Amino acid sequence: MSVWDRTILWGFMVLLAGAASAGVNYSDHICAVKGSTVTLLCTFTPLQSVRQNRRQVLVEIVRVRWCQNHLICHGTTPSVYDSDSENNAPRYKYLGDKKGNCTLQIADVQKEDEATFRFRMEANNNAAHYTGTSGVNVTVSDDRPMMVNSSSSGREVRAGENVTLYCTAPCTFHQLEVTWFKDDHALSEPGPALQLGPVTAEDSGNYTCGLRNNAGTRSLPYSLHVEAEQEQEGGSNLSLVVGVVCGVLLALVTLIMILCIIKRKWSAAADKDRRAVGGEVEQKRPDNIYSDVLPPTEPEGGGDRQETGRAVEEVSYVSVQFKHKNQDRPAMEAEDTIIYSAVASRG
Ligand SMILES: *[C@@H]1O[C@H](CO)[C@@H](O)[C@H](O)[C@H]1NC(C)=O
Ligand SMILES: *[C@@H]1O[C@H](CO)[C@@H](O)[C@H](O)[C@H]1NC(C)=O
Ligand SMILES: *[C@@H]1O[C@H](CO)[C@@H](O)[C@H](O)[C@H]1NC(C)=O
Ligand SMILES: *[C@@H]1O[C@H](CO)[C@@H](O)[C@H](O)[C@H]1NC(C)=O
Repeated sequence: MSVWDRTILWGFMVLLAGAASAGVNYSDHICAVKGSTVTLLCTFTPLQSVRQNRRQVLVEIVRVRWCQNHLICHGTTPSVYDSDSENNAPRYKYLGDKKGNCTLQIADVQKEDEATFRFRMEANNNAAHYTGTSGVNVTVSDDRPMMVNSSSSGREVRAGENVTLYCTAPCTFHQLEVTWFKDDHALSEPGPALQLGPVTAEDSGNYTCGLRNNAGTRSLPYSLHVEAEQEQEGGSNLSLVVGVVCGVLLALVTLIMILCIIKRKWSAAADKDRRAVGGEVEQKRPDNIYSDVLPPTEPEGGGDRQETGRAVEEVSYVSVQFKHKNQDRPAMEAEDTIIYSAVASRG
């Protein structure tokens, strides 16, 4: 089917519909919070022409009306909106036209707005008058308090988090004028969503919301507690402490290593001196091992003898532990074993 065909068919159907019947489509049932503004979305299809004196006469809509709880909404029936009237109540605003849009807006919804609203169109020919009898039902939630919900799951939030508080009602509402309060002081931010952004401890408090023109809808307080930034500061303090401790430890380890190296050098030098003294030390070594395990019993050995004993003490310790089978090896190995023991002590 070409676009042209479709256009012809569509035009034909519109003509047929216009000739056959008018209609009104309403939005679904509306639940309004008292004091809120609701919009009753509505569209209508008027008759295009009527048959008169055996010929088809084009007609046009000249008057539109909205009534409460009346099935026909004709004649002297009171209406909330009448395009012919000069004194419609300002709370009811007709946002539609006389062509096909019959949207009605009700501001500051009151309990008496709980009703079935019907739209009626009147044409310049009585045969084209039409009322959409199904209507739209409006129920008004009377003074039921609003509720505060938060974008964060808990009431305890951490500083820096983005928090949005939502003012919600027991039934759906439109174009709600919400006022927020923090610890009973009105906030200037309008709208059902209160964005607190990255929060600080100052955002802690009891939040309530309500419709601007209805104190009865004030919600129960929502207590928000923002944890101070201590945790983060604590974290940086902790890393500082860890850094300082690490630095000090590193310095200590370096110092110990330097001391060890100095000691090793000193020991090596001492050993060389000893070797230079003569083969006596080498010869006496096996005895000295035992004399080390059992404290020396020859005090008459003199200063030289004692010094040798002390020097071998280190050597013999390592020898007893690791070099059991090589006790008679020459002192040439002593340097190696000392190095080993130095490494071991470092570890
Ligand atoms: C009818 O008018 C209202 C208010 O101007 C508008 O929001 C709505 O979208 C219109 N509906 C249609 C079907 O054009
Ligand atoms: C609207 O309310 C009337 C009376 O209260 C009821 O008879 C009718 O079924 C309701 N219509 C809808 C669509 O709920
Ligand atoms: C909070 O919102 C701002 C913008 O409003 C954004 O730049 C920031 O990244 C958000 N922070 C977090 C933690 O989501
Ligand atoms: C918030 O309300 C609680 C009781 O609901 C009260 O204990 C607390 O002090 C209030 N906080 C502020 C900041 O007013």
